[in-house]
Amino acid sequence: MEKKRLYIETYGCQMNFSDSEIVVSVLKDEYNVIEQPKEADLILINTCSIRDNAEQRVLKRLSELNTLKRKKPRLRIGLIGCMAERMKDELFKTGKVDLVVGPDAYRDLPAILSEESDFPMNVLLSEIETYDDIEPVRYDSNGVSAFISIMRGCNNFCAYCVVPYTRGRERSRNPETIIAEAEKLFADGYREVTLLGQNVNSFHYQGVTFADLMEAVARVNPLLRVRFATSHPKDLSDVLLEVMARYPNICKSIHLPAQSGSDKMLKLMNRKYTRQWYLDRIAQIRNYMPDCSISTDIIAGFSNETDADHADTLSLMREVGFDYAFMFKYSLREGTAAHRNLEDNVPEAVKTQRLEEIIALQQELSLKSNRADVGKEFEVLIEGASKRSPDNFYGRNSQNKVIVFPKGSSRVGEYVRVLVKRCTSATLLG
Ligand code: 5AD
Ligand code: SF4
Repeated sequence: MEKKRLYIETYGCQMNFSDSEIVVSVLKDEYNVIEQPKEADLILINTCSIRDNAEQRVLKRLSELNTLKRKKPRLRIGLIGCMAERMKDELFKTGKVDLVVGPDAYRDLPAILSEESDFPMNVLLSEIETYDDIEPVRYDSNGVSAFISIMRGCNNFCAYCVVPYTRGRERSRNPETIIAEAEKLFADGYREVTLLGQNVNSFHYQGVTFADLMEAVARVNPLLRVRFATSHPKDLSDVLLEVMARYPNICKSIHLPAQSGSDKMLKLMNRKYTRQWYLDRIAQIRNYMPDCSISTDIIAGFSNETDADHADTLSLMREVGFDYAFMFKYSLREGTAAHRNLEDNVPEAVKTQRLEEIIALQQELSLKSNRADVGKEFEVLIEGASKRSPDNFYGRNSQNKVIVFPKGSSRVGEYVRVLVKRCTSATLLG
């Protein structure tokens, strides 16, 4: 039987990109992935609910893709992922979706798509699903770096965050299947894996901790780099830092979302740590790994944030000297604790102003961090040809910084030593 054609588009976090690889795997007996929506029999949009603008973007794209149905009435369009979970059957009212499938129900996709199916929706959340027996199809890969999902869901309930509601309870995947996946990837030529979870530091499976898991993956091969995302400051342990320091192939880079520098805000956000706790974690990271890069997430304008709280965030950023940051305006999400208990009372213009100040400061800090690397030599894993200058390769150093350099005689997937000669706030040039 000739296979049908699947076009899949992914929005949001790395976990969603990893999930799309599972979806493609679940459907691989019946569908081939294609790169353009025009020829598709099935279009799936894997969606994100983290902020309102993420959802608005998807709804706009959904309308665009629906115009393809005029020429192709048999085309089916499905919405999967976090928006499917959050909005459920409400999505059918748009008249633009044929199926709705939440993040824990991807195994059900073939049944939902079959002729016999009488209900085009499954948004059940699971307390056990980890897709651990499914080998992801890396349909959009550079053949060098890959994501491995190690856990699902989140139990932290930060007051602003919709993730515990769209992805359900936290559960860890059997480590044996994780290590087997890393071994297979290495054998297939991959040289870097990123272990993914909403809060990787709380990974636990029958006595195996995240530090144990990192060590086991690092031992797969010294030529396999290991990264991870995302950490929660409250759970970042010294044991993990000690393991990171001990293995040269564990990358010296930690993403540690601070969200705010004000104790009052951290409490309102239900982050379960203080500014001082966060700064102690940073000190400990530097103690174990002086060359470790540190990146963060910041939210501007959460409920009741004053100018003084905002100033605390700026001062925390300066004090830590983040190498990189993702920065957002607070977006009220229905169903969260903040929606129930707090007022979204920082005016939009103030949010915008504060976000601009945060971005300007981070740009200064990133430039400072990059300037400090000029004149240094790094080991870089080559990921591909630079899009802007095809005579150059790009890759990353252990600290997760992108370095662009002349191709020479090296090849994609190789490690090379690169001397940094110049920089911008975004890139090192070698
Ligand atoms: N509004 C703005 N930013 C948010 N984030 C999570 N929820 C919200 C929200 N409601 C940010 C946090 C988190 C990152 C993934 O997205 O900074 O770390
Ligand atoms: Fe959201 Fe907090 Fe979970 Fe991250 S750890 S996804 S911010 S609830």
